Amino acid sequence: MDTATIDQARLDAFVTRAIEDLASAYGGVMVSLGHRLGLYKAMAGAGPLSAGELAARSGCAERYVHEWLNAQAASGYVQYHAASASYELLPEQALVLADEDSPVFIPHAWQVPASMWADEEKSLETFRTGQGLAWGEHDGRLACGVAAFYRNGYKACLVPQWLPALEGVVAQLQAGIAVADVGCGHGHSTVLMAQAFPRSRFFGFDVHADSIAAARRNAAAAGVAGQASFAVARAVGYPNRHFGLICFFDCLHDMGDPVAAAQYAAEVLAPGGTVMLVEPFAPDRFDGQPDTVARLYYSASTTMCCAHAISEGGKLVLGAQAGEARLREVFRKAGFTHFRRAAQTPFNLILEARR
Ligand SMILES: C[S@@+](CC[C@H](N)C(=O)[O-])C[C@H]1O[C@@H](n2cnc3c(N)ncnc32)[C@H](O)[C@@H]1O
Repeated sequence: MDTATIDQARLDAFVTRAIEDLASAYGGVMVSLGHRLGLYKAMAGAGPLSAGELAARSGCAERYVHEWLNAQAASGYVQYHAASASYELLPEQALVLADEDSPVFIPHAWQVPASMWADEEKSLETFRTGQGLAWGEHDGRLACGVAAFYRNGYKACLVPQWLPALEGVVAQLQAGIAVADVGCGHGHSTVLMAQAFPRSRFFGFDVHADSIAAARRNAAAAGVAGQASFAVARAVGYPNRHFGLICFFDCLHDMGDPVAAAQYAAEVLAPGGTVMLVEPFAPDRFDGQPDTVARLYYSASTTMCCAHAISEGGKLVLGAQAGEARLREVFRKAGFTHFRRAAQTPFNLILEARR
């Protein structure tokens, strides 16, 4: 390499950036430990604690807790009080790290990169062969991490914001309709809707048998098993119940033939019925600039979304950054005449389609 062409300032800045990312990856393991050992929960609302006090509260060994606390302070994940040599989890930090019902609770999300590392050999093979890797072939932390992480976002947005953003759908749900949740995963979206609309009936479908088993458990635990049922089924061919609403939560882009999935939805939609498509937020064209949301989604898409779509034949591999225009085209090809953006968040596009 010709070192004369190296811009030292640019090199220094980039090395700093790469080291910061490496530290974040180490920090993710600390977050997972803190969550699973109950350390964050033991700190939440407790005010400043010494390592010994936190060790006693959490039932963990003090020497490890002390080191972990210093890692947390160095990460800016807890506040260190030098005068008392104590550590405090501030209320904002507690929302992100200790409160499992908070919409910004993050620890579950670290299961996803854990699964990506565990599956590295499989991903290397997909690159070399061009073959796919199905959702269910991944380390189990993938499905659990995604489900638990998305659940709180759905809890905050689905019933209060996204469904009301669709034309006339809340009134139909209140009156009672059949709803399909296609690619339902662990069924958290299905359960939330079932809880909010007792007159409607909900049917979750997914190709992944372990996810369907988890969805049944989640519905039973939430007391909506009578209203929400789940079956292992593909996005093309699930039973026709003349659905008033068909939902695809963060899954259409994973499918090997999204046009066929949308065509089938058109077939089993009741007259006046609506498709709600929730997809990762993305512009229509990636500008190639650094962007945190795009970085997250393109990385996940490389090893999971594209790999799953290819495992299903890969007729159209949208990836997790498809954008509204490409999704609109999928629905146009499937025979839908109405398609609009109903809502959005920094992470999601909420799209409405009618025949
Ligand atoms: C990213 S996960 C999203 C799960 C869930 N909707 C959520 O938001 O938590 C994608 C899901 O789509 C499912 N899936 C992929 N291809 C499918 C297909 N052709 N038919 C039905 N489900 C499919 C996967 O098994 C997986 O559960």
